[in-house]
Amino acid sequence: MNPRDYDLEAFWMPFTANRQFKAAPRVMVSAQDMHYTCEDGRRVLDGTAGLWCVNAGHCRPKIVEAIRRQAGTLDYSPLFQMGHPGEFRAATLLAALAPAGLDRVFFCNSGSEAVDTALKIALAFHRARGEGHRNVMVGRERGYHGVGFGGISVGGIPGNRKVFGSLLPRVDHLPHTHSLADMAFSRGQPAWGAHLADDLERIVALHDSSNIAAVIVEPVAGSTGVVVPPRGYLEKLRAICDRHGLLLVFDEVITGFGRLGTAFAAQTFGVTPDMIVFAKGVTSGAVPMAGVIVRRGIHDTVVNGGAPGTVEFPHGYTYSGHPLASAAAEATLALYHEERLFDRARALAPHFEQAVHGLKGLPHVIDIRNFGLMAGIELAAIPGKPGARGHEVFMKCYERGVLTRVTGDTIALSPPLIVTEAQIDEITGAIAAALRETA
Ligand SMILES: Cc1ncc(COP(=O)(O)O)c(C=O)c1O
Repeated sequence: MNPRDYDLEAFWMPFTANRQFKAAPRVMVSAQDMHYTCEDGRRVLDGTAGLWCVNAGHCRPKIVEAIRRQAGTLDYSPLFQMGHPGEFRAATLLAALAPAGLDRVFFCNSGSEAVDTALKIALAFHRARGEGHRNVMVGRERGYHGVGFGGISVGGIPGNRKVFGSLLPRVDHLPHTHSLADMAFSRGQPAWGAHLADDLERIVALHDSSNIAAVIVEPVAGSTGVVVPPRGYLEKLRAICDRHGLLLVFDEVITGFGRLGTAFAAQTFGVTPDMIVFAKGVTSGAVPMAGVIVRRGIHDTVVNGGAPGTVEFPHGYTYSGHPLASAAAEATLALYHEERLFDRARALAPHFEQAVHGLKGLPHVIDIRNFGLMAGIELAAIPGKPGARGHEVFMKCYERGVLTRVTGDTIALSPPLIVTEAQIDEITGAIAAALRETA
């Protein structure tokens, strides 16, 4: 088949306005480091690390070579009741990166699967302790935890929920932590809003703590448009969970692997959850991989709770710990270490902050939020047309050769950690120019 001989209509695109896209397709054919090349020859600077995942930059030779080598050595081996060295090595490396105490790793293929897995681990843990009545899950408004039924149930993005019926029963939600009136244009963590964590006490009182299994939040909410936790907020959540025996799960699908300047947001904020959900940056996006890093005691309770010879946790995927994904993870984690990319992200964060906050005062900008190498630039919506202005700015940036991401009317930025200061300025420069020409 000729590379361009395809039927655009045959592919039902995910999270895409299919008709709009197919009227003016944007098709990428190759990538290297910070840039894509598109089918029309256009070069595009990656301001978003793909979908928040290409943290090491594109097609890095050591990752590519590791995947190639693995594909020619062991393409697949059954992953239930059998093992291969790569998955144990990848798990060992991840356990070493995680906060102390979290050192048991369950592999999945997507963030959505990993979220569902974490919820199941919470249920299995409480049941193994004889507290199977703890089955209420607490998420947060505006949270994004993927698209499985578990993830959309604890998630809080209305558009992702409204079509899909009654979802999981026994779920409650904390209030989200964004308030334009109280925190617009905060740099880093807003000073206002720690008290919003106290709402967890209200939820505990409503359901009774004896019925609640876990609380799941993104440490910095990404897909809703980058919402940074108020100072003291995560600490409060941790304290309330401890007081009532609730597990705290951090969904670090976006915040993991250096996005905030450390391996995980848990380390940046100094708050240790009971489980970390990871995906994306673990392989720098090169092969799908995700998983859950679990506090050892939770693992031991579940695994030691079953009779010897039985499958202790009846859960897993055909591709949990796939050889190619494991090889990609191993090479990616080695590259992060060799190039000190997490430190690099931390060192670049002040310049990034300065650059994005330099957009304040431009037309339509009503808030700018940032932490590490993540930022959200929120625009005033056109009345009656939510998302339209954001899309226009996204398209204008693309025309200028810069890829941004738009969620609603918020432009989200999350460049690969290899970005240079000049490239950061190029990204914000394109946004500034696009805003100036947007009605
Ligand atoms: C915080 C968070 N959790 C879960 C997911 C879902 O991951 P996936 O798209 O790999 O299923 C995402 C994806 O962006 C995410 O940002």
